[in-house]
Amino acid sequence: MTAPILDIEAVSAGYGSGSRQVTALREVSLQVQPGEIFGLLGPNGAGKTTLLACLQGLHTPTGGRLTVAGRPPREAKGALGVQLQKTALLDDLSATELLEVYAALYDVRLTGEQIDTLLERFGLSEQRNKFARQMSGGQQQRLALAIAVANDPQIVMLDEPTAALDPHARRDVWDVLRGLHEDGRTILITTHSMEEAEALCGRVAIIDQGQIMAVGSPATIVAGLGLHATLKAAIDLPLETVRGLPAVTSVRYTGQHLEIQSSSPQSTLPALHALATQQGKVITEISLRQPSLEDAFLALTGRSLN
Ligand SMILES: Nc1ncnc2c1ncn2[C@@H]1O[C@H](COP(=O)(O)OP(=O)(O)O)[C@@H](O)[C@H]1O
Ligand SMILES: [Mg+2]
Repeated sequence: MTAPILDIEAVSAGYGSGSRQVTALREVSLQVQPGEIFGLLGPNGAGKTTLLACLQGLHTPTGGRLTVAGRPPREAKGALGVQLQKTALLDDLSATELLEVYAALYDVRLTGEQIDTLLERFGLSEQRNKFARQMSGGQQQRLALAIAVANDPQIVMLDEPTAALDPHARRDVWDVLRGLHEDGRTILITTHSMEEAEALCGRVAIIDQGQIMAVGSPATIVAGLGLHATLKAAIDLPLETVRGLPAVTSVRYTGQHLEIQSSSPQSTLPALHALATQQGKVITEISLRQPSLEDAFLALTGRSLN
């Protein structure tokens, strides 16, 4: 196995002191491999931004150890691209000028051709001479991403990059992030959206109240918790008989619907159908829901994420 590009060992962090002390991270350990799109998934206040700040050398942990591309965070700036908050996009500079200025902060001089390539890649060619304030939310977010990669970093860190975007702009940002991943860059993204984590991330860490609750691909996390699929069918059958069908783990009626938990819907479904036929009944409506990260979060924390 290659060395992790982000190595976090038992990191604790907080704010304030004395009676006002707030603990934001409790002995968090996490390894991100080169080339991953890794998601930190958790509700507001979970500690996601604090962990990014520690990795960026902006916040000093109270305990533990972390390295970025094998170096302490403060010495790893050249390897890192960090997305700016919208408010940091200076009002009186055009997209082109902003790219020049921010690249220069990393001692990178961009040629006109490089700027054109960057703007085109992020779908901003038409915005090259516009000020940030003249752009839509999605365009500003893509500009922030273009700035984040202006120094050609190995690692890109993004704090809730799509939180304020409409679904269309959000998908555009996902496409841009997939492109950065295809370049071979490592992407660390925070989100409180299950949908985003499932759509984008190879692996995620579920974080809650400063602690990591689970790490893995969304599918592995769900499977590891032994969560089952839910079948809902509009049919009236004896509960005892349904309970005896293959892979059924629980059965109940909710309103007009028979609700079945199944560890293997592909075994349960044909058997349910056969049972209905045998009883001379017809299933008029049926739905199947596979367990999701949302169910995993609920199982891990006892609370719903949203
Ligand atoms: N500047 C700060 N001063 C005091 N407490 C803070 C500060 N920033 C964050 N916190 C607290 O630290 C915890 C983690 O916050 P944060 O890392 O921002 O979580 P997230 O990004 O997941 O929403 C929360 O309890 C939050 O209230
Ligand atoms: Mg945050």
